[in-house]
Amino acid sequence: MNDIFQINLKSVTKSFEGLDVPVLKNLNFHIKASEKVAIVGSSGSGKSTLLHIIAGLDSPSEGKVLFNNSDMSSLSDNNMAKLRNKHIGFIYQSHHLLNDFSSIENVMMPLIVRRGDYLNDFNQAKEVLKKLGLGKRLNHFPHQLSGGERQRVAIARAMVTAPDLILADEPTGNLDHKNANLIFDSFLELVDEFKTAIVLVTHDLSLAKRMKKNYHLASGKLKSN
Ligand SMILES: Nc1ncnc2c1ncn2[C@@H]1O[C@H](COP(=O)(O)OP(=O)(O)OP(=O)(O)O)[C@@H](O)[C@H]1O
Ligand SMILES: [Mg+2]
Repeated sequence: MNDIFQINLKSVTKSFEGLDVPVLKNLNFHIKASEKVAIVGSSGSGKSTLLHIIAGLDSPSEGKVLFNNSDMSSLSDNNMAKLRNKHIGFIYQSHHLLNDFSSIENVMMPLIVRRGDYLNDFNQAKEVLKKLGLGKRLNHFPHQLSGGERQRVAIARAMVTAPDLILADEPTGNLDHKNANLIFDSFLELVDEFKTAIVLVTHDLSLAKRMKKNYHLASGKLKSN
């Protein structure tokens, strides 16, 4: 955890070709070290778009995103990728695991691109998978795992670097309530252990309530709940 970590969205507007109104309109948002924020909103309201913009995976049509007071749009693609790898974890709405790689290889991926020591990377990935209850699934491939197990591998991959910020897009969205809660508990234990800030997008109000701040996204704007 980095105490000075913060991301600021200033008057962000996002339009897509073919849509008459912008998905996000003059939106302001701020997240800093260790904060816990939930965003709820109806399907199509722009929640995933907002997370992609916070992560620098997509850029605003207008307005800017500041990472520790520096404008993200001034970074080259390469430097943006490095910044993401160092500071931000992303759990996608559909898990996006690499099908030809085992659980442990999927989780090691963000460490491997740093070109560190393979054995250290392996042990670090194994540790996080064990904490998520997948110690016995290291060598299984995504198609050999249950939906909940795949989701846990995706969480492990996003958390393995102990990022400053985790962006979680419906991390337990496809699971029944009981399993969703169990997986969410171990996810939050990791978030607390690493003092990672979290922006959680969810339809589940009981999960949202476990975050300190709750926002509702509608008509391109965030409103405090
Ligand atoms: N790359 C794109 N090109 C064009 N339109 C897009 C693109 N990405 C998203 N949209 C549109 O922007 C709107 C918001 O999409 P987004 O995926 O952010 O919604 P969401 O709130 O995450 O919805 P859900 O709860 O269903 O995941 C939708 O109308 C969608 O069709
Ligand atoms: Mg979405």
